Amino acid sequence: MQLQFDWLIVLENLRRGIMVTDTNLDGPQSPRIIYVNAAWVKMTGFQRDEAIQFTPRILQGKHTDRAVVSALREKLLNRELFHGQTWNYRKSGEPFLMNWYCYAIYGDQGTPVYYVAEQEDVTELETMRMRERLFLNPNDKTASDFFEALQQWQPAHATL
Ligand SMILES: Cc1cc2nc3c(=O)[nH]c(=O)nc-3n(C[C@H](O)[C@H](O)[C@H](O)COP(=O)(O)O)c2cc1C
Repeated sequence: MQLQFDWLIVLENLRRGIMVTDTNLDGPQSPRIIYVNAAWVKMTGFQRDEAIQFTPRILQGKHTDRAVVSALREKLLNRELFHGQTWNYRKSGEPFLMNWYCYAIYGDQGTPVYYVAEQEDVTELETMRMRERLFLNPNDKTASDFFEALQQWQPAHATL
């Protein structure tokens, strides 16, 4: 027997951010966001009406790695699972490291009906990892680039 439950309550209470888009990957406004859950709103600072009908590129900025987002496109077109990490930006402009899985959900005809992303802010964890790398090797370029990207942002109210 099929268990009856309120799937929306479950989605809204997940700890990870969830984003669902349509499956059109062509054009500057595509794909379009159809749904984001409460954890996603909390993580990004964008309200639902600022995200729905817009493209996930609203999260991208100066240090977003083009190779990572191009890989996402390639993986989806090849019907593969994407897993990657790059800098994204909250509504406030604050950078954070987005780590996410992205994949298609297929309909009865075997064609993709939605793209889904499970998303997590891993900035805190990576900060600890990069601090350790810098401690071991003060010339570690990946670690210094990490802190440069993080420190370039200053909140509007910050006193210097
Ligand atoms: C379901 C889904 C979620 C996405 N989430 C993000 C995201 O969180 N951050 C991001 O930088 N790009 C995200 N993207 C990728 C962009 O929407 C876009 O597909 C990517 O930038 C590649 O296209 P482009 O090379 O034309 O920019 C997501 C795409 C899909 C389909």
